Amino acid sequence: MAGTEARPDFRCSLCGDLFEVEYPGWGQRKGNDRPNAGALRWLWRERRCSSEALDNSGVWRFRELLPILESFGNAVTLREGNTPLYHLPRASKALGIDQLFAKHQGMNPTGSFKDTGMTAALSVAKERGFEWVACASTGNTSAAMAAYAARAGLRSLVVIPDGKIAWGKLAQAMDYGAVTCQLKTDFDGCMRILTQVVKEAHIYLLNSVNPYRLEGQKTPAFEIAEAFDWNVPDHLIVPGGNLANSSALGKGFREMKELGLVGRVPRISVIQAEGANPLVRSLADSNGASLEPVEAHTRATAIRIGNPASWRKAARVIQETGGWCLDVSEAEIAIAKAELGSEGLGCEPASAVTLAGLKKLRAQGAVGSGESVVLLLTGHTLKDADYTIDFHRGTLLKEEETVGLEQKIDSLRRNAQVVEATPEAVLAAVKGNVG
Ligand code: F0G
Repeated sequence: MAGTEARPDFRCSLCGDLFEVEYPGWGQRKGNDRPNAGALRWLWRERRCSSEALDNSGVWRFRELLPILESFGNAVTLREGNTPLYHLPRASKALGIDQLFAKHQGMNPTGSFKDTGMTAALSVAKERGFEWVACASTGNTSAAMAAYAARAGLRSLVVIPDGKIAWGKLAQAMDYGAVTCQLKTDFDGCMRILTQVVKEAHIYLLNSVNPYRLEGQKTPAFEIAEAFDWNVPDHLIVPGGNLANSSALGKGFREMKELGLVGRVPRISVIQAEGANPLVRSLADSNGASLEPVEAHTRATAIRIGNPASWRKAARVIQETGGWCLDVSEAEIAIAKAELGSEGLGCEPASAVTLAGLKKLRAQGAVGSGESVVLLLTGHTLKDADYTIDFHRGTLLKEEETVGLEQKIDSLRRNAQVVEATPEAVLAAVKGNVG
């Protein structure tokens, strides 16, 4: 049985599992007690035209479904959310799926989907009077936390694996004034150490074990439903690392259905990197009953996680919605990222696993041509420019990783050329690339 008191690491003091914010009775409300779905949809859309900061936030404009603060006046916002949903004409054509879209969460203020969760949980920290907040991170959580803490006037502690996060993300933590500790261990080691730290000091933990993070991270589900005129797509595909995001989006769709805002929920599938695939293994080996941590390796550093905290929640979401969980190789990730780039949509390698996963699902016949599919792109391409440059220079992948894919990779590589400083030389470069 679950207890009612959370420890500083947000685990139940009785069973050790994670907490989740619940709104008892939402599903049972009948008649006049039931929120007016039409009025809410109108209000949420109308708020986008308001000049109030909270109304402009793609998280707080849905605040009726986020009753987590004593006062919404305590909300700390950077105008997160309201991210674009793009059609993907080239990938649509290549895969034979008309309705293929990308929801680009990299278009958030600090360049990743973490902002939607951070505005929620950081606001709770501020309301509760904490002076310090902290997280362990593969880089994006720390960038988001540092920025929101700075806006709120709180101090922040970032614990990251030394040498295993992208420079763009490390730069952000420094820029926003966090105390940044690079530890000689991996993400899972950082998490273990920080869990000890928050037990000994009055510091509010802002990793996604914090259930308020998930309350903010459920709001892209509302935006997706809104963009589909409250008809929800057939299938949503998300990357899997610490597995909070898939859990949060599943919660968002579930709550909308309970409240009568949508008639059904989409399938939610989770894609991991081959070298960091503990959930794929857990579902294959024990149908999600237990999870064996792995030593994680992938160049998609954002999802280099071997012992994900929210795996039970994510397994439940996949199973309840009829989604899939699979893994993709390093070369498949790099190719998918370059393909998205060639549509004018840059993203982080961790985000590109979604397209790589969809290609596999399509090849297996799991996704039909008439289905509407949304890929969740989680981070901005500039977060990890080194990865992109290495791909185009041909130094990213080892020979054995590209076997059978050489031609595909060559067709996507666009390495910069050093060209003589004359118009003739530049024109020759253009000619060399015509056709
Ligand atoms: N994509 C990006 C760009 C990420 O930064 C992360 C996680 C994920 C996907 C996976 O999401 O953990 O909810 O399954 N980044 C974390 C961090 C762990 O510390 O920034 P998840």
